[in-house]
Amino acid sequence: MTGNKTLAMIKPEAVAEGNIGAILDMMSKGGFKIKALKLLQLSEERAKAFYAVHAERPFYHDLVNYMISGPIIATVLEKDNAVQAFRDFIGATNPAEAAEGTIRAIYGRSLESNAVHGSDSDENAVIETEFHFSADEIV
Ligand code: CMP
Repeated sequence: MTGNKTLAMIKPEAVAEGNIGAILDMMSKGGFKIKALKLLQLSEERAKAFYAVHAERPFYHDLVNYMISGPIIATVLEKDNAVQAFRDFIGATNPAEAAEGTIRAIYGRSLESNAVHGSDSDENAVIETEFHFSADEIV
């Protein structure tokens, strides 16, 4: 059975450019119901932990530095088959390859500054949700 929740983040460049509202609006109109939401600043330690799965990748160091470069939004979204539905909705990891009209195509600037993160599996959606939110912060 597929889960009905995913963990999304609006990344530093999208927050800095003033696109929080527009991106949340796209999510809502796309049928994703907000179940939890916060604005936060990741520490280096927390960013390293969040992306620990990528620790051996050549882009890990830059990714961590980018993710701590400014505040982000973390949000839990609910929809049927949420993980895959949200990945389809945001578009390919590289904004240059993202389908027209997707969040990354509109608001992404580069492979690194790609506007939003979405969990890549139901298992990781649970891990990432628990990373950012306690049970009483999810409605
Ligand atoms: P995200 O979905 O947050 O998961 C890991 C992030 O690493 C990814 O989005 C990209 O923004 C970033 N990244 C940077 N370089 C690469 C790369 N070469 N391949 C995949 N992801 C990359």
